[in-house]
Amino acid sequence: TNHRTNQSWGGRFSEPTDAFVARFTASVDFDRRLALHDIQGSRAHATMLARVEVLTEAERDAILEGLDEVQAEIEAGTFDWSVALEDVHMNIEARLTDKIGITGKKLHTGRSRNDQVATDIRLFLRDEIDSVAAELTRLREGLIALADREADTIMPGFTHLQTAQPVTFGHHLLAWQEMLARDQERLLDCRKRVNVLPLGAAALAGTTYPIDRHVTAELLGFDRPAENSLDAVSDRDFAIEFTSFASVLLMHLSRMSEELVLWTSAQFDFIDLPDRFCTGSSIMPQKKNPDVPELVRGKTGRVYGHLMGLLTLMKSQPLAYNKDNQEDKEPLFDALSTVQDCLKAFADMVPAIEAKADNMREAARKGFSTATDLADYLVCRGVAFRDAHEIVGQSVAFGIKEGKDLSEMSLEELRQFSDAIDEDVFAVLTLEGSVAARNHIGGTAPDQVRAAAQRAREALAAL
Ligand code: ARG
Repeated sequence: TNHRTNQSWGGRFSEPTDAFVARFTASVDFDRRLALHDIQGSRAHATMLARVEVLTEAERDAILEGLDEVQAEIEAGTFDWSVALEDVHMNIEARLTDKIGITGKKLHTGRSRNDQVATDIRLFLRDEIDSVAAELTRLREGLIALADREADTIMPGFTHLQTAQPVTFGHHLLAWQEMLARDQERLLDCRKRVNVLPLGAAALAGTTYPIDRHVTAELLGFDRPAENSLDAVSDRDFAIEFTSFASVLLMHLSRMSEELVLWTSAQFDFIDLPDRFCTGSSIMPQKKNPDVPELVRGKTGRVYGHLMGLLTLMKSQPLAYNKDNQEDKEPLFDALSTVQDCLKAFADMVPAIEAKADNMREAARKGFSTATDLADYLVCRGVAFRDAHEIVGQSVAFGIKEGKDLSEMSLEELRQFSDAIDEDVFAVLTLEGSVAARNHIGGTAPDQVRAAAQRAREALAAL
């Protein structure tokens, strides 16, 4: 039997694997990222097999000790990964057998690489989800703290990127926070469906050994064993679900990035990003570029691409396991690293944003952002809204011509357009009056922003 190329399955083969095919079908170069979770799954499997007396306690102990040694080699970086052994699973099992002899070959009793790999990805992804959630929490805390600090800072609110009405900077930041709160809900919901145990499904139909899948599930912290063995080994919709969460999150981070880029431009000049988050130009000495938000905006595309890739990977696969599934890993891994990096960039950067309150205020003033307040004032004095709209439109045209904001006009100037206007109009024409008047839940008034920040903090703490 010296023609065998792979001792795990070479028995029925009469010629060695083509060298290119061996390389083409191997996954160890990327799936070694699952190594520690593969060992975690094997420990639980061996423990369960001993519990149901398929392995002796001595065999179990030999396997557990051997796995400890293998893990130590992997952690020390001395493990010798072999492409000839195809994937992470066979590399680890072969090394275990080198160390403990024939008992190592018993580990795979009642198990297949099909349920093994499905278990490994879920264990791995569950840990990654928990660290993504922690980073998301850190970013949200930063936004809430900044919003609280900037609850009174007035800036123009935009529609169509044209000045619309004054808002507070804190209110704007809490809008970002709301987007992320929904993303975090999506992430935690996805985790529930990740946290189900495939192991025990074996290749596709289950196994003849008297396994106890509840024991394995409990040892690994899964909520329950997967209900159907065919589904358990073939389904990857949990990876699609994670990547879909990641796509929506990156869409949100990309929108925030776009605003940060605009705000740091000389034309807006609303904020300053500290130098450590920016880079310069090799030719233009004056430049300070917001590369970090730009790159986050750019990385959104690759995550969308991974989502489309995974959906397409799964769309025509017949039950149960197919080798196609090996292609689930690289998109998932890359989506994860991208999400982790982008969240870290934002969580580090947000607390360092410096608002240029004077510039924001001046932009709100210049844009006639209190025009709606004047119209509302006229409506309160009995003018029909359409007429009020026309009156204010004429006042704005006058202001543009004279270079004056509404609040800078004299009473006589304003009364040219309507005699319903009196001295008390100036209280509603100021930026402070305008934001303070929107004093209901969800509104931009500084007191509402502070209350909303407090509620957001409580919601985060309750997660
Ligand atoms: N490397 C494989 C994967 O990632 C492991 C499962 C292989 N199973 C098989 N029967 N070839 O999907």
